[in-house]
Amino acid sequence: MSDVLKLDGVHTHIGHYHILHGVDFSVPEGKTTMLLGRNGAGKTTTLRTIMGLSPPSSGTITFDGQSTGKKSTPEIACLGVGYVPETMSVFSDLTIKENLVLAAREGPLDTQRLEWIFGFFPAMKRFWLSRAGSLSGGQKQMLSIARAIVEPRVMNLIECFAEIRKRGATILLVEQNFRVAQELGDSVLVMDNGKIIHRGAMSDLAKDTPMQERLLGLSLEAHQ
Ligand SMILES: Nc1ncnc2c1ncn2[C@@H]1O[C@H](COP(=O)(O)OP(=O)(O)O)[C@@H](O)[C@H]1O
Ligand SMILES: [Mg+2]
Repeated sequence: MSDVLKLDGVHTHIGHYHILHGVDFSVPEGKTTMLLGRNGAGKTTTLRTIMGLSPPSSGTITFDGQSTGKKSTPEIACLGVGYVPETMSVFSDLTIKENLVLAAREGPLDTQRLEWIFGFFPAMKRFWLSRAGSLSGGQKQMLSIARAIVEPRVMNLIECFAEIRKRGATILLVEQNFRVAQELGDSVLVMDNGKIIHRGAMSDLAKDTPMQERLLGLSLEAHQ
């Protein structure tokens, strides 16, 4: 199986800060690779580096066998690399419930659908009547995903990614919620301090709780 995207010894500096310290990984064709790691590990910087938004200071990045290191962001996009940045579409002054009621638009919230969402994001149930502004960054992201999937007529994100995957797209995805990551990923990369500290099959990490705790630490609890 061929690798669509390959990073070799990638270092990235932002201003005076040395953020990525020799990132090495490859993303196989037609698979979903999850990029996980604690806050500040370097996940967003890795995606921005691939897109040329924070270009690498050394190392090589190849996409479909072509080196992208010296290319501009539009040129990289033209090669067929799509980037979907994280969104934070939540209303801070409203409660979790109010945020979801607004997102559902058509009629009342569907109880069954809510329970399904709570299964992925227990924090949404726990903080149901709290202001969204009081949530952590990761929890706000969960709320923004919950807002996207609460509307029953909208195809949900997980089905959506499953569908994209079926059509053979190659995906590199950053996901804070381990349960969602586990559902979507074929393989998994874990970053810490600007380096890849683990690579393997998602199914292996999914059944090894001590390894999850060692690699991802508190981020597992913190985002529930
Ligand atoms: N523009 C920036 N200037 C200085 N430091 C930055 C900048 N962007 C990110 N960083 C730092 O780089 C590290 C990695 O950040 P980031 O890639 O956003 O991590 P993650 O997405 O895994 O949470 C963090 O220590 C962060 O503070
Ligand atoms: Mg990030």
